[in-house]
Amino acid sequence: MPRLIPLLLLLLLLLLLSISISFAYPLRTPRSLAPFARRLRPRAPANYDYETRFFQQRLDHFSFADQPPFQQRFLVGSATAGWGRGDPIFFYCGNEGDIEWFAANTGFVWEFAPRFSALVVFAEHRYYGESMPFGSKERAYKDAESLSYLTAEQALADYAILLTDLKKNLSSENSPVVLFGGSYGGMLAAWMRLKYPHIAIGALASSAPILQFENIVPPETFYDLVSNDFKRESVSCFKAIKESWDALEAQGKEHNGLLKLSRTFRLCQNLNNTDALSDWLDSAYSYLAMVDYPYPSDFLMPLPAYPIKEVCKKIDNYAEGTSLLERIYAGVNIYYNYTGTVDCFDLEDDPHGMSGWGWQACTEMVMPMSSSEENSMFPAYNFDFAAYGDECVESYGVKPRPRWITTEFGGHDISKVLEKFGSNIIFSNGLLDPWSGGSVLQNISDSIIALVTPLGAHHIDLRPSTNNDPDWLVKQRESEINLIQSWISDYYQGKKGASNSM
Ligand SMILES: *[C@@H]1O[C@H](CO)[C@@H](O)[C@H](O)[C@H]1NC(C)=O
Ligand SMILES: *[C@@H]1O[C@H](CO)[C@@H](O)[C@H](O)[C@H]1NC(C)=O
Ligand SMILES: *[C@@H]1O[C@H](CO)[C@@H](O)[C@H](O)[C@H]1NC(C)=O
Ligand SMILES: *[C@@H]1O[C@H](CO)[C@@H](O)[C@H](O)[C@H]1NC(C)=O
Repeated sequence: MPRLIPLLLLLLLLLLLSISISFAYPLRTPRSLAPFARRLRPRAPANYDYETRFFQQRLDHFSFADQPPFQQRFLVGSATAGWGRGDPIFFYCGNEGDIEWFAANTGFVWEFAPRFSALVVFAEHRYYGESMPFGSKERAYKDAESLSYLTAEQALADYAILLTDLKKNLSSENSPVVLFGGSYGGMLAAWMRLKYPHIAIGALASSAPILQFENIVPPETFYDLVSNDFKRESVSCFKAIKESWDALEAQGKEHNGLLKLSRTFRLCQNLNNTDALSDWLDSAYSYLAMVDYPYPSDFLMPLPAYPIKEVCKKIDNYAEGTSLLERIYAGVNIYYNYTGTVDCFDLEDDPHGMSGWGWQACTEMVMPMSSSEENSMFPAYNFDFAAYGDECVESYGVKPRPRWITTEFGGHDISKVLEKFGSNIIFSNGLLDPWSGGSVLQNISDSIIALVTPLGAHHIDLRPSTNNDPDWLVKQRESEINLIQSWISDYYQGKKGASNSM
């Protein structure tokens, strides 16, 4: 089952996944919040007209050591007609991946910016895409020393400095900035609003699991939610998956069993053990839960509407004599091979996971994950921090600091803390999304608002709108727009009373 770095999606062709399995059974670990970022060829955002720019950043914002600077990539929308000095800036906090890819999948910002005459800016997160310290990914990812500047705090400081400098260059210091982000980027947006209230007036944090740390939410949350998504479609499907892990292990132990498994699952290479296959299946189910969208999508993979329903149809409806594992194969074939163009599945190994998220998970982003015997369809597992830490030392030569995020950004007693202290944050979540369990699902104050949609999946609200959007999604976006509108109006009203006029 999943271990330290469960998955670095690297699409060779559109459909071939390569999966990084660094560690042996049974470490369970945070999967990349936005694994889709690993797509090699970001699609050019249709109709999203932007300029690509680079900005020189300090490597270490928190020391005065003389370090080589690096170039941070950012995109500036050129399509916002009518933007003028003092008008709003919509700033997207880049996630763990190529910013062009996020720009293409964050239709919300582009579609609504014109209503506010807002200038759109997408900033890339350091150590991802083209924003590489030390001049190249190879050098940036060399070792614990070179990676040590890959932290959320450094990334937020990058964003703060970039925004401040950009506003100065535009002679638009008084522009209100609204932050946007989904998944890890949503966490960054929320944290940035709290850390830099003088730089941004509000944040829309979509599917942002800021409470997935320490024991704030139960460690079973993520896998329970994935499992529920399957159970709600079909109890028999849920049960078949739950039983399949034993069947898989048993077959793996048989004479020629691994060979048989490799054939059943049409793998390009023969298995040496069942770990890689288990991980691959785990990833399919987990990502399916994230992208269980109500319309056909091509986000992580090309998929039909409500893909879990389709997977379960395959698992549930089978010809006599079909083995359980063959049914499982037919089910995940929907996820990995919906277009029917994959010849064989490549479970490519990447033993030292040169993924930035692997490093982040081994340093700050320690999100304990367990799988409960009762509610989960995954093999039972209890998060074991000591083992997790050992794997991090082995893999990156670094010890995780599991309490750092809550010390730096908070999380415990969030309602009490933010009710008095914070303002202007929307936490939006769809309850089908397994990350929703680690996010804020209740209103905290008049301006720290939780928008929850029972049938939404991973940051669906930020995705481009489609003709197939259900009413609840249209309404959710309208609520978000209204809230953002009110922040901006309040800001300008406050400014009118102030001496420094726009
Ligand atoms: C602001 O202008 C300076 C001078 O042209 C330039 O070096 C810098 O990159 C600009 N900053 C941003 C954020 O565009
Ligand atoms: C099994 O081991 C061989 C030799 O180490 C390796 O080449 C192959 O990629 C492994 N197969 C899988 C599926 O990992
Ligand atoms: C992908 O789907 C096509 C069409 O159904 C099928 O012929 C092919 O064998 C599938 N690939 C794998 C690896 O299962
Ligand atoms: C939070 O308040 C807003 C109204 O501002 C409401 O639309 C929303 O449903 C509330 N959220 C929850 C989770 O009750």
